[in-house]
Amino acid sequence: MIFGWWATDGRPPTWHLPDDPPTGEDWSELRSTVLRFRGHPQETTENSVDIEHLGYTHGYYDVLPVGSTLVEGPYLRSCFDFKNVRRIAGPVNVVVEVSAITHVHGLGYSLVEFHEKTIGMDSRLWVLATPVDGTLVEVVLVSQVREIRKPGRFFAGLRFLPVAMRHRVMNRIVLSEERRFVLQDVVIWERKKYQAPPRLSQADGPVGRYRQYSRQFYPELESERRPTLRAI
Ligand SMILES: [Fe+2]
Repeated sequence: MIFGWWATDGRPPTWHLPDDPPTGEDWSELRSTVLRFRGHPQETTENSVDIEHLGYTHGYYDVLPVGSTLVEGPYLRSCFDFKNVRRIAGPVNVVVEVSAITHVHGLGYSLVEFHEKTIGMDSRLWVLATPVDGTLVEVVLVSQVREIRKPGRFFAGLRFLPVAMRHRVMNRIVLSEERRFVLQDVVIWERKKYQAPPRLSQADGPVGRYRQYSRQFYPELESERRPTLRAI
């Protein structure tokens, strides 16, 4: 992946992206897919702290935040557990129990590390958002899956594959699923409107803190009251 810095006033970068996470032969190659829709990087990245929407929009359940949201300058980390029912490489619907850690470095770069507890599958998802023209946003999803040695009875369709093939096949499935989830979000994002001041409720959890965090990426507006995005 190659990243570039661009600022409207030509100022130099004010923060840097992290090093790539460690990888090796036990990790699949990177796969990517691109979506373009009406939206904004601040909205797409807000998903990393919007725990409530995981149930309503994506059908996850038993969603629990783990610890509190960490903010250190341009870095934000959010951790949560959830369960979901998925049909993965076989005819049986399976319950997956997942721990997720989201690393946000500015509004255009998020890396989510997933650990599926039942079979011990690790995967990564980068969510990379770029504003296009003030109305559209382009989101690149990039995924990577670690070798799965014990697919278990849930992964009947993968058991017949050599070990070295399983995580590559799984990576295709993971990316396809994540694309489907983002398209569920797009239905909401495309209908959002500005509302100032925003009306946040307690159920929104750390969304307000995330919006405070986001202000640093609008240096030209820091001294002004800036309307915040809200779904209707
Ligand atoms: Fe979402």
